[in-house]
Amino acid sequence: MHCSLSDTPFDSMSIKLICVAGARPNFMKVAPIMRALSGDPTFTTVLVHTGQHYDDIMSGSFFRELGIRTPDHHLSVGSGSHAEQTAEVMKRFDPVVEAEQPHGVLVVGDVNSTMACALVARKRQIAAIHVEAGLRSFDRNMPEEINRVVTDAISDLLLVTEESGRENLLKEGVSPERIHMVGNLMIDTLMANMERARHSAIASTLGVDRSPFGLVTLHRPSNVDDPGQLREIFETLNLITRNIPLLFPVHPRTKARIEESGVAPAEGLLLTEPLGYLDFLCLMARSSVVLTDSGGIQEETTALGVPCLTLRDNTERPITIEQGTNTLAGASKSSILSAWEGFLRQPKRGRVPPLWDGLAAGRCLSVLKTFFI
Ligand code: UD1
Repeated sequence: MHCSLSDTPFDSMSIKLICVAGARPNFMKVAPIMRALSGDPTFTTVLVHTGQHYDDIMSGSFFRELGIRTPDHHLSVGSGSHAEQTAEVMKRFDPVVEAEQPHGVLVVGDVNSTMACALVARKRQIAAIHVEAGLRSFDRNMPEEINRVVTDAISDLLLVTEESGRENLLKEGVSPERIHMVGNLMIDTLMANMERARHSAIASTLGVDRSPFGLVTLHRPSNVDDPGQLREIFETLNLITRNIPLLFPVHPRTKARIEESGVAPAEGLLLTEPLGYLDFLCLMARSSVVLTDSGGIQEETTALGVPCLTLRDNTERPITIEQGTNTLAGASKSSILSAWEGFLRQPKRGRVPPLWDGLAAGRCLSVLKTFFI
């Protein structure tokens, strides 16, 4: 669909876009695009926070540190089952779309809020724009994979971060003119904040300012919801930390599972509260290695040139393996230890993928202008 202003009921020349932010990994993608849109008189932006993440440390601190303005609408959906959360976002977002009458709704990433808001937009025949389209793990047991497939199938404009995204969409029958390679918005935010992050005192606060350390994050349901699997990963981390101290900022969902399963960290494995953006970026840049099941951290470590062991069997971001510093380590004790030994022998080096250059928001803006005008 090509949307022209003359097709719309609006007589203003301004293009009104709703930008949706829902959960922690969305915020660093929304920040640069909001800034670019706000600086261009062609666009009027409406920022909607669904409230999928709501704690200050999962949400508010990111808005402050990244300078994202106060949302125009806060839907306060909170936590729940996938069905409850998705349905609640849809129910609460629909009247906002009706009241605002935007030309388009821009969603980022692959969380429940992404899919829910894209669905609402398209059912109201409003253009849906998906930033970070086309990524595929080909694992439909991942809730995010369902969100990606559904969001891409109905979105009018698909902005991709790496070539695999374009290839996957073409294979799924998406017409090429809907797909645009814009690069990686999250890396815009990383580059814009690196200098500030270097001034964080977090490394000395946690006692690792003079020593090498590794950084751990875990929150995928497949790794933390099954107590046996969580125990296996913990036992493995407890072995690895004989080689190097490990810092582990614990996601709230993981914290609950750790408490339920009674797993205990060894002395070198330091569990902390979730960290803010600048503190986490500071630690990531200083760490010798990152062990994670996050999608975004696979990309950030590649941009930083820090070796990353991904505790999963697959990734929807293959460029981080082909060109970057990422290695798939699996999630079993033997596979993680074998990847760890590989890291000790020869830490992986890589290069930064094309268009992960800090300028993705400007390219998004150009694509949006061509689409709407
Ligand atoms: C969601 C995304 C995932 C993303 C992750 C980043 C989906 C399907 N999953 O998973 O893709 O990588 O966010 O964090 O959208 N909680 C709090 N405070 C908060 C938010 C959550 O305590 O501010 C707790 C609640 O107990 C909640 C649990 O964390 O039940 C999980 O939160 P939820 O948003 O449902 O999913 P995530 O696991 O965070």
